[in-house]
Amino acid sequence: MSDKPSAPATERNREAILEVLADELRDHTAVLEIGSGTGQHAVYFADHLRNLTWQTSDRKQNHVGIEAWIESANVANVRRPLELDVEAPPKLDASYDAVFSANTAHIMSMHAVECMFALVGQLLPAAGKFCLYGPFNRDGEFTSESNETFDASLRSQDPSMGIRNLEDLESLAETAGMQRSSLHAMPANNFIVVWRRADSL
Ligand SMILES: C[S@@+](CC[C@H](N)C(=O)[O-])C[C@H]1O[C@@H](n2cnc3c(N)ncnc32)[C@H](O)[C@@H]1O
Repeated sequence: MSDKPSAPATERNREAILEVLADELRDHTAVLEIGSGTGQHAVYFADHLRNLTWQTSDRKQNHVGIEAWIESANVANVRRPLELDVEAPPKLDASYDAVFSANTAHIMSMHAVECMFALVGQLLPAAGKFCLYGPFNRDGEFTSESNETFDASLRSQDPSMGIRNLEDLESLAETAGMQRSSLHAMPANNFIVVWRRADSL
């Protein structure tokens, strides 16, 4: 247990996220997760969403931790991590009909966020969905004081990080051929935004 990395936030937010994914992805079969982090979300969601194969991915430095969570979870439908940096993605197979990513858009540079949307737009088939969880600004405004404080702390560590405007993400999605199909307000001033291929709506 102690050799596995731990992100306590995943234990606080996973039930609310699961509820949304269970509905949004009820007819889907294969998810690619971008930026799996510790892998805690992956094993939890795979365990509770047996209709899905859950493919983890992240940059190489996170793979040992993700592997450790997968090994200890003993969940058949979660897959060992792919090495995936959205700024230099490998060739991915075309079998995914959903992409999930949590708490990545404010950690990635804006250029990386652009790359993520372009990648997802290329990858998803017509009925595919992109579910992105995290804090986002609305109309260029923070949705809470705690998000404003969090944003300042991110930018002081690295000016390329920061909470993104939902409108900017909408524009990236549109460029990538996707349109928003739902917006779920989540606990602690977060959202899950769901985009679908525009030609499927
Ligand atoms: C705050 S962590 C979130 C991890 C996990 N999804 C969660 O909710 O706990 C941000 C994740 O984004 C990943 N990340 C940052 N830049 C990335 C990039 N260019 N390509 C892929 N993943 C990236 C990091 O490696 C890290 O796992």
